[in-house]
Amino acid sequence: MAQKAREITAESLAKRLPVDNARDEFGQLATVFNDTLSRLQDAFERLRRFTADASHELRTPLTAMRSVGEVALQNTLDAVTYRDVIGSMLEEVDRLTRLVESLLILTRADSGKVQLAPENLDLVGLAGNVIDQLRVLADEKQQDLALRAPIRVHATADAALIRLALMNLIHNAIKYTPNGGTITIEVNATDGRAIIEVRDTGPGIPAAHRDHIFARFYRVDPSRSREEGGVGLGLAIARWAIEANGGHIELVSERTDGSSFRVILPVPDGSSAAGGGRQLPYEPRRKRQEFASP
Ligand SMILES: Nc1ncnc2c1ncn2[C@@H]1O[C@H](COP(=O)(O)OP(=O)(O)O)[C@@H](O)[C@H]1O
Ligand SMILES: [Mg+2]
Repeated sequence: MAQKAREITAESLAKRLPVDNARDEFGQLATVFNDTLSRLQDAFERLRRFTADASHELRTPLTAMRSVGEVALQNTLDAVTYRDVIGSMLEEVDRLTRLVESLLILTRADSGKVQLAPENLDLVGLAGNVIDQLRVLADEKQQDLALRAPIRVHATADAALIRLALMNLIHNAIKYTPNGGTITIEVNATDGRAIIEVRDTGPGIPAAHRDHIFARFYRVDPSRSREEGGVGLGLAIARWAIEANGGHIELVSERTDGSSFRVILPVPDGSSAAGGGRQLPYEPRRKRQEFASP
């Protein structure tokens, strides 16, 4: 058995130890060893796929920059065209920057070393804040971006991570919803859980893609997503950010007329959001466009 175990290396992780009798001690040991091998094999495979996908995504903007640059150098261009060339190269630089930032976030997530700073977080304030930040993008597309928050809702969570998740969800909603559409963010609480829903009137996500949508680099329509500047990591990051806080994120599958993502977070002990407590009406203090923390 020792000899067989030695033969198994990183390159031959698919091999398994023979289990003659699963009930005796050797058999049990071999079974445990084989289970560990399966987990290792999965981890290696995930790492391999991640590295391959990341390399591919890194190469695409680099190739684009090179070809734009080469074409520009071969010809004498006027100042306006040079500006265009520089502009499109900078777009690719932006893309690379976003990609590298996302990869860094996921690498930190994988290391398991992210220090959370959970606090009693005002979710309505936070959602309003993210909306404020993204409103300019919705305005460009004449979209109606609205916050609905009938009550104040708090969650015990790390503000930076929840913000990151909401940024990705709301940004997606704006990106994938056509001009003139509506994006609604609803913050509420039921059964002792805080709930944030991000709904849009965009194309929705076809059923066949629903199980994969949170996977790294997965995109329903890669070319469309690329045009929109997406790298396919936003939902993977959002899922990690929510789950690291003991929460849950899902695509609400009943809807076909647009997409709807639901985030569920634990509420602070004894909070009014835990159900049955006093519900405070939420009234934006200023006009609807400005949702600063109430
Ligand atoms: N609100 C939405 N409406 C339609 N499709 C969406 C929406 N959000 C995400 N998607 C789909 O899920 C894919 C993965 O999303 P995400 O991980 O954020 O990557 P991307 O960088 O492409 O935005 C997107 O490419 C898109 O196909
Ligand atoms: Mg995205």
